[in-house]
Amino acid sequence: MRKLIFLLSGSLAVSGIVASAIAQNERDDSHIAIENPAELSKDEARKIYSDLRNRMASLYAMSDMAEIRNYQSWKLFNDAPFISATHGQRYVNNYANAIAVNYAILKEGEKLPVGSVLAKDSITVTGDGRVFPGAMFGMEKLPEGTSPKTADWRYFMVIPDGSIYGDTTGENPDLMTYCHECHLAVEDRDFTFFVPEEYRVPE
Ligand code: HEC
Repeated sequence: MRKLIFLLSGSLAVSGIVASAIAQNERDDSHIAIENPAELSKDEARKIYSDLRNRMASLYAMSDMAEIRNYQSWKLFNDAPFISATHGQRYVNNYANAIAVNYAILKEGEKLPVGSVLAKDSITVTGDGRVFPGAMFGMEKLPEGTSPKTADWRYFMVIPDGSIYGDTTGENPDLMTYCHECHLAVEDRDFTFFVPEEYRVPE
């Protein structure tokens, strides 16, 4: 019995060390696309997310960004995490706060109200089975005229250690220029792409 306890605590300690090494590694490169993402079924992706989501919530919360506090209690628009080639080949989810109530049903030319926040958390899953939290990608609709260069959208990215990698209204705004450049493609939908069809939750 004693041996069993020893073995258990030994392996827990080791997995703790490995986990922190991975966390460090992920913090350093979570803004760079990974090259070999795993192909997961919807069920596999859901399971990984349900194991990791509480930890992800506390990691992003370390940023103290009020805009994304409790984002996991917001409406989720995809039925399983899906791989996003445009956000670093990570598995992502699309949440929107209550102000962005029309996010799913935006008509051509319609705008989301000021205070709308869209939050996209992400998980890295490598082809060799490693899983760790990725960055949070966020958009917030600012008051009209606040940011003409980005059509009054604020773009930000939070690393899963709470640090802010970039924010068009704060730190390293230049690192976030490419966000709007790509989102410009969907100007008709107020610069939002929404969720790939096969992952949409029926309205
Ligand atoms: C090369 C194109 C591209 C770039 C660059 C890009 N995005 Fe996106 N973004 C998309 C696409 C496509 C979607 C929807 C599908 C998906 O996630 O793959 C999306 C979805 C989103 C969403 C959910 C709202 C929506 O549009 O429906 C957020 C939030 C977001 N992106 C934030 C960001 C931020 C922040 C950056 C910069 C750090 C960024 N994006 C850079 C293409 C891009």
